[in-house]
Amino acid sequence: MDILLWHEILEPYELAVKELQVKFRHLIKEHHGKGLYSPIESVSGRVKSVSSILEKMQRKGIVPEEMEEQVEDIAGIRIICQFVEDIEKVADLIQKRSDIEIKSEKDYIRHMKDSGYRSYHLIVYYTVETMNGPKRIQVEIQIRTMAMDFWASLEHQLRYKSDVEIPEHVSDDLKKCADVIAETDQEMQRIAKELKVL
Ligand code: GTP
Ligand code: MG
Repeated sequence: MDILLWHEILEPYELAVKELQVKFRHLIKEHHGKGLYSPIESVSGRVKSVSSILEKMQRKGIVPEEMEEQVEDIAGIRIICQFVEDIEKVADLIQKRSDIEIKSEKDYIRHMKDSGYRSYHLIVYYTVETMNGPKRIQVEIQIRTMAMDFWASLEHQLRYKSDVEIPEHVSDDLKKCADVIAETDQEMQRIAKELKVL
């Protein structure tokens, strides 16, 4: 596919990522404006690079005609929370919205991945208005605590930066770190509750 065609395909995803970031950041502002605690701490987003899309298609045997249906994370939004129980509150907020329709969820908090990865994922449908009318696209929303994000970001970097295949004992060490972080997350939440911050 040539560059112009890629640009045309990815344009609505760029718009969706921008719009959703504005909307979620506005939610933070609304809470703070009312003097309320915001279950959302911060929001970021990205559109998957062409090389990552191609890599995923190859890895999963996805044919070009099915790219937009099968590659569910072309548009990605990441919502960071302070405390574990905020994640459910954010998921509820999203479920109640009329501009977002939930397609599926993956709860890697109740069911953490073998790597130790924890996060709550939603695949949603979101409609953007384009020159040619409305276009309904899929967006992956990852919701996690600051602590979960700390681990996931570093683990991703280590995997990405390392030239060698990660040995099993290192995977075990990384998983142990994830478990310690999860315990700390629970403890911080308990403290927040004791102090009546939550
Ligand atoms: P990808 O092809 O990697 O997108 O995975 P998938 O489509 O099979 O879905 P999955 O739910 O496994 O992962 C979705 C996303 O979650 C990934 O793109 C990562 O951003 C994140 N993720 C999943 N597992 C891990 C992990 O072990 N470590 C880190 N750092 N991130 C992970
Ligand atoms: Mg992904």
